[in-house]
Amino acid sequence: MLSYVFMKILEMRPRSYDRRMEKVSRGRTRKIKEAVAELVPERGNVLEIGCGTGELAGLIVQRGCIVEGFDLSPSMVRAAAERREKENLRDKFSVKCMGVEGMDDFPDENFDVVVATLAFSELNDNERRFALKHAARVLRPGGRLIIADEVVPRSPMRRLVHSMARFPLLALTYLVTGTSTRPLKDLSGEIEKAELTIQKENRSQGDSFALVVAIKKDKDRT
Ligand SMILES: C[S@@+](CC[C@H](N)C(=O)[O-])C[C@H]1O[C@@H](n2cnc3c(N)ncnc32)[C@H](O)[C@@H]1O
Repeated sequence: MLSYVFMKILEMRPRSYDRRMEKVSRGRTRKIKEAVAELVPERGNVLEIGCGTGELAGLIVQRGCIVEGFDLSPSMVRAAAERREKENLRDKFSVKCMGVEGMDDFPDENFDVVVATLAFSELNDNERRFALKHAARVLRPGGRLIIADEVVPRSPMRRLVHSMARFPLLALTYLVTGTSTRPLKDLSGEIEKAELTIQKENRSQGDSFALVVAIKKDKDRT
């Protein structure tokens, strides 16, 4: 679980990012992406926020979906574009270099699913609110938002242990990259504020990791 603190350092080398993340997380990051991909209904239109090298997009394409991904980092986008060519995903996966603030260009009700793995913990409060607001807007009624990310454990004792264990790694990451990641304090609450309905929240890794699925209710049916 502490491997997520290192993400920022590993992101400096996009070409080896997935391989190194898998190593330091002992295979967890790949398993998370497989779990997220399994929750994506087959043959839908999918938007991926902070798609990194496109590893998750590749898994979702295997389900017969079309994926539009975007990422703030030009080098991550280059790595995703290389994957597109290498894995022959050209017709099924497109990737743009932009931050979440570009989400207001996507048309209303255009996607069946919006996904994000380990990206929300890199956004600031305003970016998260903006991303959730636009995720809700671009989803079709009945569509799903699926987020997997590091969260703050709910019990005070676990919170204390988690932040103490995290601190030295956080300091090192900050020294090397000048940035850090932040576990999310109230992911489900923020999603509900964007008027999506939480369908499930699975916690793991000592309550410090969440996989959340939310639905955009069809207003005509409620
Ligand atoms: C830890 S990586 C995860 C990448 C990918 N989702 C995965 O699970 O392998 C976080 C990604 O979020 C991207 N990111 C950070 N801030 C962003 C923003 N404001 N808008 C879009 N992408 C952002 C980073 O460039 C990075 O590629």
